[in-house]
Amino acid sequence: MTTLITRIGELVTNDPPHPDGDGSPLGIIRDAAVVVDGGRIIAVGKASQLSDAAARVDLDGHALIPAFVDSHSHLVFAGDRSAEFTARMTGEPYDGGGIAVSMAATRAASDDELRTLVARRVAEMRAQGTGTVEIKSGYGLSVEHEARSLRIAREFTQETTFLGAHVVPPDSRGSAADRQEYVDLVCGEMLDACAPYAKWVDVFCEPNSQFAFTATESEQVLRAGAAAGLGVRVHGNQLGAGPGVQLAVSLGAASVDHCTFLSDDDVAALAGSSTVATLLPGVEFSTRSPYPDARRLIDAGVQVALASDCNPGTCYSSSIPFAIAVAVRDMGMTPSEALHATTAGAARALRRDDVGVIRAGARADLTVLDAPSYLHLAYRPGVPIARMVDF
Ligand code: NIG
Ligand code: FE
Repeated sequence: MTTLITRIGELVTNDPPHPDGDGSPLGIIRDAAVVVDGGRIIAVGKASQLSDAAARVDLDGHALIPAFVDSHSHLVFAGDRSAEFTARMTGEPYDGGGIAVSMAATRAASDDELRTLVARRVAEMRAQGTGTVEIKSGYGLSVEHEARSLRIAREFTQETTFLGAHVVPPDSRGSAADRQEYVDLVCGEMLDACAPYAKWVDVFCEPNSQFAFTATESEQVLRAGAAAGLGVRVHGNQLGAGPGVQLAVSLGAASVDHCTFLSDDDVAALAGSSTVATLLPGVEFSTRSPYPDARRLIDAGVQVALASDCNPGTCYSSSIPFAIAVAVRDMGMTPSEALHATTAGAARALRRDDVGVIRAGARADLTVLDAPSYLHLAYRPGVPIARMVDF
């Protein structure tokens, strides 16, 4: 049934060529209406020109934006690491070692327990305005448990990512040969079991960590994933300067995520590439690391996305409005850039053009704000003003 959404306070389309738009990258239309049908957007324009529809929804002056695209999350986990977070707030550093704690709890959970946990987290995201979510494996770290994590993730999204190379599991850390054996397992039997449920392959590339993977190991994993038909994404430059960004760019990755510690060469490489730099402010909030410098990236012409990284270790927040507020407050982004980065920017990080935009033909993934303008996302931190609505 066709539905006309009308009396929209401010419509953010992310479709600057629209003739009724304000000429900004957000493509804002005033006095706008949107027509949806069967989960798709049919028409977007001035309310005065769009009036035929079977049903009408009056937004009473509330703003309407594309639903957020959360292009980075790790929702398939069990267990609790709140004590680790608490220790960090009094000075403990983050090093990735806690991932083994989540691994043990995740392996011990039943399929139904994991499914219920993921369902709750996806519902929590939706209730805060998120319409598309990427979900990684990475707390199974065995053939059986990585495949199970992805099978469950696939029940909730098409944007699933094989992260068998999240950390070297505890029983593979003994010697260089044990490590290599694990990397070979990830690239062989584990990838074979996981690829049917995955769209992407990812790796935690940090050269100076006993837990994460070196450039050589990471490249082996990413090339194997790409050869199996998966798109490439990278966790890079989170804990320190390193090869993650250059590796991602050289492999044509859709996205390199974190980008907290970047050299001038890293920024230049990103600017000359189609790889999106995905920033995850919740991580720096929850680890007390310095925030990434979004202004430096944007000014250099890098495509930037913002995502939650919702996970039990570095950021147990599924809130994109929270990420926006931090990015505006502490990372040099304007409210407009931050909204763009969580919608169109994150869609680009997933190489999608049917979400993150309000345009005829796109999915009708729409988020209503309990506010007249998107500016309130950063202006009212911690207040649940965004929610996704099915029209
Ligand atoms: O994106 N850094 C690697 N992976 C996650 C954290 C995982 C964890 O600590 O449980 C991240 O920050
Ligand atoms: Fe992550």
